[in-house]
Amino acid sequence: MTTRINPSILAADFANLERELGRISTADLVHVDIMDNHFVPNLTFGLPMVQRLAQVSPVPLDVHLMIDDPDRWGPGYAEAGAYSVTFHAEAAGEPVALARRLRQIGARAGIALKPGTDATPYLDLLPEFDQVLVMTVEPGFGGQSFIPETMPKLARIADAVHDAGLDVWLQVDGGITAETIGMAAEAGADTFVAGSAVFNGDDPAQRIAELRDAAAA
Ligand code: DX5
Ligand code: ZN
Repeated sequence: MTTRINPSILAADFANLERELGRISTADLVHVDIMDNHFVPNLTFGLPMVQRLAQVSPVPLDVHLMIDDPDRWGPGYAEAGAYSVTFHAEAAGEPVALARRLRQIGARAGIALKPGTDATPYLDLLPEFDQVLVMTVEPGFGGQSFIPETMPKLARIADAVHDAGLDVWLQVDGGITAETIGMAAEAGADTFVAGSAVFNGDDPAQRIAELRDAAAA
């Protein structure tokens, strides 16, 4: 089974981001949360930050856009060198056109669903995407508790991916810890975003190793 661990720099030391990236070089990707204070009630960073991080990061960037109008802003993140760009289904005007544009630029295209968003309308669109992000907390803040009620939706998407014979990564984000990661892995996730579980403490690489073990257990 594949297990990807993507630490979220939302929980890192913003005054020392390059150093923080160096501490997670054993991660698969580094998750970068873009929030605009409109789609979610919180504000983080934007395109200039991603352009710079892409230049210095030893690990490719997994950009999570929690913003309005990703149709307009998303392609810029792909052009900045993000390895993957995931936008929210609830915010996108034309998700298929946007996914095609992201892929054309050379990024993996991802679609994210908030905990209350039904997957049904998106199952037919799976071939247009490289990854699906099932939010396991309400987007906007790190350090929240995992919502187990999102697991049946994840399992349904996993079944649809399997039935169609697709290679679509299934990502979970929010409240992922050594305690909750197994539940998500069992429901079909292969890519795990973790902010506080990786950066709270003094050895992020050790935390990444523990999460990998717990996902496989
Ligand atoms: C929440 C963000 C997450 C956040 C996860 O809106 O999308 O990526 O960083 O943080 P933890 O792992 O602390 O729940
Ligand atoms: Zn995120």
